[in-house]
Amino acid sequence: MNLPNLKAAKIRSNKEVVYKESPLVSNDQFLGKKYFLRTYGCQMNEHDSEQIEAILEHLGMTSCEELEGADVIVLNTCAIRENAHDKVFGYLGRIKHLKKENPSVIVCIGGCMSQEENVANELKQRHPYVNIVFGTHNIHELGNMLLEAKAGKQDIEVYSEEGDVYEHVTYKRASHITAWVNIIYGCDKFCTYCIVPYTRGKERSRKLEEIVKEVEKLKEEGYQEVTLLGQNVNAYGHDLPESVAFSDLLEAVAQTNIPRIRFVTSHPWNFTDKMIDVIAHYDNIMPYIHLPLQSGSDRILKLMGRRYTKEEYITLFKKMKEQIPRVAITTDIIVGFPGETDADFKNTLDVVDTCQFDGAYTFIFSPREGTPAAKMKDETPLVEKEERLQILNQKINAYSKESNEKCVGKTLPVLILGTSEKDANKVYGYTDTMKLVNVEATKDTIGKIIPVTITAAKSFSLDGKLAEEVKI
Ligand code: SAH
Ligand code: SF4
Ligand code: F3S
Repeated sequence: MNLPNLKAAKIRSNKEVVYKESPLVSNDQFLGKKYFLRTYGCQMNEHDSEQIEAILEHLGMTSCEELEGADVIVLNTCAIRENAHDKVFGYLGRIKHLKKENPSVIVCIGGCMSQEENVANELKQRHPYVNIVFGTHNIHELGNMLLEAKAGKQDIEVYSEEGDVYEHVTYKRASHITAWVNIIYGCDKFCTYCIVPYTRGKERSRKLEEIVKEVEKLKEEGYQEVTLLGQNVNAYGHDLPESVAFSDLLEAVAQTNIPRIRFVTSHPWNFTDKMIDVIAHYDNIMPYIHLPLQSGSDRILKLMGRRYTKEEYITLFKKMKEQIPRVAITTDIIVGFPGETDADFKNTLDVVDTCQFDGAYTFIFSPREGTPAAKMKDETPLVEKEERLQILNQKINAYSKESNEKCVGKTLPVLILGTSEKDANKVYGYTDTMKLVNVEATKDTIGKIIPVTITAAKSFSLDGKLAEEVKI
């Protein structure tokens, strides 16, 4: 067995990435059985769950909503902050109980937590009823692992420290309107607070032609939107032999003429002018960029290993706003990084005032074992960090509402995704600028991009009604 080792995971070898196929396992032993799958993490984690579902359904299983009715339980975990851990371990308590009543249930833990050394140890010692632990690099092996577990094999743990790239993966996509497309796996940035470079391994890009083929196929199947996925999409291509840049990939994907293209996440460090040009040039690349700031203090940015200064971030932000018509920009911010003073925090608030983001995800720093920041001296009490978060959130929400209010009266293109959760007589969708809109329109608009006149703005959503044509 090969337990994950954070020190080993940090080493980036120059082993060449191998491009492999990922065939589904067929077998009738699970025919008619039920699976319960829970997903905890980011978009990439959710997309991995779409692969897990395809594997399970190919074995003849169907999903169930309740843990209690399941023959196979899969938790696809996230390790980004401590509360993600707590949620999973809390849930395991329920599963333990279930397993006592019905020992034939097969329990599988996948995702980023299972790539962590301390978690793998804790699972082994304190949760021995877990049958299968699989890492983020070997999801494709889940089918075979399940067959082994069924045959009575105990303790199935398969990790891999270095990832290859799997092509022609089958997914059971959650939507028939929007789809995720992986373009680059892993992360080599090693921001000092972040666990992802350890849990997801080194940066590996998929080949441009394979990505374009996948998008073309999705377009033929009627998909309206693709989101290109990577922990750092603008690092795309640097590891490929035929030097291609993310801007080249974006252009190639735009030329498939799929109606909408999005991408997450962009790192401010290598966001090139060419990328801005391409986004501005193609109508089917949506004017929306998620550009994590993390902190507005140069001192903290340096400690975080972010590779840009406050001024550089603001300069890039302004360039985007000037050159990409109507672009919406959202961000991520961490408060309470070790050593963050009031003055540092004030710098973050300054950037928020300058940029007036359309929205932001904000977090209190959470020490992750094995990362450099977890060892840094941190004297700020939690209550103070919570106060900072509250002050920040108030500001963020006010700007978000302001940017939503600017939409009122305009008629914007909205891709309708489904029936509104709050009101069954309405549908909901997203503007090109990624704003959620609840729309007075019939259900036959689902799956279409329609013009919507915005009638009201809230902090986190808009209301609108069907219109004749887009008027911005
Ligand atoms: N690859 C993306 C997203 C990474 S995780 C990027 O580089 O932006 C999403 C967000 O979680 C990060 O942007 C960061 O704001 C937050 N985050 C990551 N590690 C964290 C930690 N240890 N504590 C608190 N927030 C964290
Ligand atoms: Fe984490 Fe930084 Fe990589 Fe984003 S770029 S995944 S924050 S290490
Ligand atoms: Fe979580 Fe892993 Fe994503 S740690 S945020 S699921 S890359």
